[in-house]
Amino acid sequence: MISIDFNKKIRTFIELDDLKIRTTKDGSLSLYSLNYKEAFHDTNGALKESINKYLLPAQLDQFSGIERIVVLDVCMGLGYNSGCILEELLQRNHKIEWHGLEIDERPLSIGLNEKKFQKLWSPKVLDFFNCLKKKERWIEGFNKGTIHWGDARQKIYEIEDSLRFDLILLDPFSPQKCPELWSEQFISLLSQKLSFKGSLITYSSAASIRASLKRAGLKIYSISPSMDAQNKWSSGTVAKKEELKQQFISENYQLKDLSNRELEHLATRSSVPYRDPTGRGESKEIISSRKIEQSKSQLINTSSWRKRWNTAQ
Ligand SMILES: C[S@@+](CC[C@H](N)C(=O)[O-])C[C@H]1O[C@@H](n2cnc3c(N)ncnc32)[C@H](O)[C@@H]1O
Repeated sequence: MISIDFNKKIRTFIELDDLKIRTTKDGSLSLYSLNYKEAFHDTNGALKESINKYLLPAQLDQFSGIERIVVLDVCMGLGYNSGCILEELLQRNHKIEWHGLEIDERPLSIGLNEKKFQKLWSPKVLDFFNCLKKKERWIEGFNKGTIHWGDARQKIYEIEDSLRFDLILLDPFSPQKCPELWSEQFISLLSQKLSFKGSLITYSSAASIRASLKRAGLKIYSISPSMDAQNKWSSGTVAKKEELKQQFISENYQLKDLSNRELEHLATRSSVPYRDPTGRGESKEIISSRKIEQSKSQLINTSSWRKRWNTAQ
């Protein structure tokens, strides 16, 4: 039996028994949210997904020679994305400043109660997770981290305004389930917080998200699907302020320029953004106003793009 610390800070709208534990195909632990009707990870593997969609696209080699790396994990959940990145950064002896945004304290607690989860991490990363759970802060030599529990849209303002992030890991539930964290306004805010050399990384290849990232002034790249996901045309998006050096865009690396299919996708009604001007909008309102905006849009219908490219997505 798992004992979970049901912390008082958990928002009342989250049903207490809505998180179900799952084991994914690579043997790593994940969760399914009955509340959102969505899994935290791909069934192929929670750890595998973090490696393929966050760690490898982060291309940590590009930061070699940079002493301090600043990381923002938006929707930390169980912490796989940060765990994988920190394992690497710690080995490379970077100084790390880490911030996390997450509304629900339970996923991390559930993970830390499970041997299967604990076994994945080095003692240093496990200590990072335990410190966040117990004290909301992690300090280890020159490294430090803070988890900001609560709605990311508000909690982001707790972070020092002038701080710029080298890595922003954006991993909310899908735009249809959690549109508030994919809004034009939130994406613009995250984009402003990116350092000049930094990368914003997300599993989403949705046209609406990519279009918002472009309007925020970022250059966007597609994450190449891993070998076992070759039926997909993209495994996500990396957005940057500066153009990626050609050496990092190649088949050997994980990023490529957008294909014609992906570029044309940006010209369809799917690219109409999610809008949340107050930063406090309800999911349903955000979805329904987008539907209205799409119905009035002059952009081409996504179904003709799908037909042209013979794609189900
Ligand atoms: C797909 S899961 C994240 C998976 C995670 N990166 C991991 O490695 O386990 C989405 C997460 O978003 C969190 N979330 C949902 N709405 C949020 C909000 N408004 N602010 C912050 N976190 C939110 C959920 O609690 C959940 O942990």
